[in-house]
Amino acid sequence: MTAPAAPSLFDALALNGVPLRNRLVVAPMTRISASDAGVATEAMRRYYTGFARGGFGLIVTEGIYTDRAYAQGYAGQPGLTDAQQAHAWQRVVAAVHQAGGRIVAQLMHAGALSQANRFRDDTVGPSAVQPRGQQMPVYGGKGPYRMPRAMGEAEILQAIDGFAQAARLAREAGFDGVEIHGANGYLLDQFLTGHTNQRQDGWGGGIAQRMRLLLETISAVRAAVGAGFVVGARLSQGKVNDFTHKWPEGAEGANAVFAALAASAVDYLHVTEHEAWQSAFADGGATLVQHARRAAPGLAIIANGGLHAPSRAAGMLSHGATLVALGRGALANPDWPLRVRAGQPLRPFDAAVLAPLADLKDAELALRDASAAATPA
Ligand SMILES: Cc1cc2nc3c(=O)[nH]c(=O)nc-3n(C[C@H](O)[C@H](O)[C@H](O)COP(=O)(O)O)c2cc1C
Repeated sequence: MTAPAAPSLFDALALNGVPLRNRLVVAPMTRISASDAGVATEAMRRYYTGFARGGFGLIVTEGIYTDRAYAQGYAGQPGLTDAQQAHAWQRVVAAVHQAGGRIVAQLMHAGALSQANRFRDDTVGPSAVQPRGQQMPVYGGKGPYRMPRAMGEAEILQAIDGFAQAARLAREAGFDGVEIHGANGYLLDQFLTGHTNQRQDGWGGGIAQRMRLLLETISAVRAAVGAGFVVGARLSQGKVNDFTHKWPEGAEGANAVFAALAASAVDYLHVTEHEAWQSAFADGGATLVQHARRAAPGLAIIANGGLHAPSRAAGMLSHGATLVALGRGALANPDWPLRVRAGQPLRPFDAAVLAPLADLKDAELALRDASAAATPA
């Protein structure tokens, strides 16, 4: 008998009962194109629908803020905190479904990396530690991040509740699931990271204690949405303000993190690295996806990071990934699945689309409409 072949990128699968037509996922990408009130716009509906028309099985939205306190990170970021915002997302979701795609809402609390928040003038985090790096100009920021205030116990519980309420609104809006943003240096990752979490109370300490906020958020979200709704979590080593950060606990720490998530109520893990096919640590050993697969054998895993070449994307499935997410490759090729299936060439990513700001551009949307119409179904 021969070993079963790794699945193809074009094989269907189901995620907690949600049927996906293939294993190709659009990675979450903040495009700061919502209204001042955090309401998803018509441009966003066209943008997301273009990916579904282009053949992607699953779309993860940009990071959506979860409360009307400290969660918002950027001007123009959409929220899921009231009926108006939920209603606008409903239109986006319906259009994506109509085009044969599925869509989960990425729930995000920016914490100390917030650059703009219409509800608050200051920022909070696990501890009063100045974030590394500089604010991102493509999201309207300038200069160093503000010094955050350490969150009190009640504020932490409020933040968890924000995730739960936003998840409930996501379900009501018709989303196929939610992804809890535990990656890239935002609030949940600030708690997970030793140098930003210097707390002496029950939310800080060793890596297991530093995971508490993420795990309690997952529990609260699951309790809010019930068993039959997709809940995922995104994890990374690198951060938007500290690109090359590696978990200092190495392979052992990765094992602890992924094993705890395997025992949690998530349906999938979304693991992102700059180049997902590289060794996760300086030991020259396994990729982060392989570490995740070993510690969480039963969980669906989305691999992300530099996987826009079809061979690289397919290769991650033999590393144990269940699905593959494309960010910049999907921006350049919103019809990546249709193109690759038809043997058509892929366009290279042009960073000009994110300049001077990362907002959606008319030309980009027009190209997307045209290419979706021109590519055979
Ligand atoms: C314009 C832009 C916005 C992004 N916004 C988010 C976001 O809101 N949430 C998130 O988890 N990752 C975000 N990312 C990271 C991507 O999801 C992805 O991890 C990264 O682009 C690497 O994948 P790629 O090599 O396929 O582009 C963003 C990336 C880009 C290029």
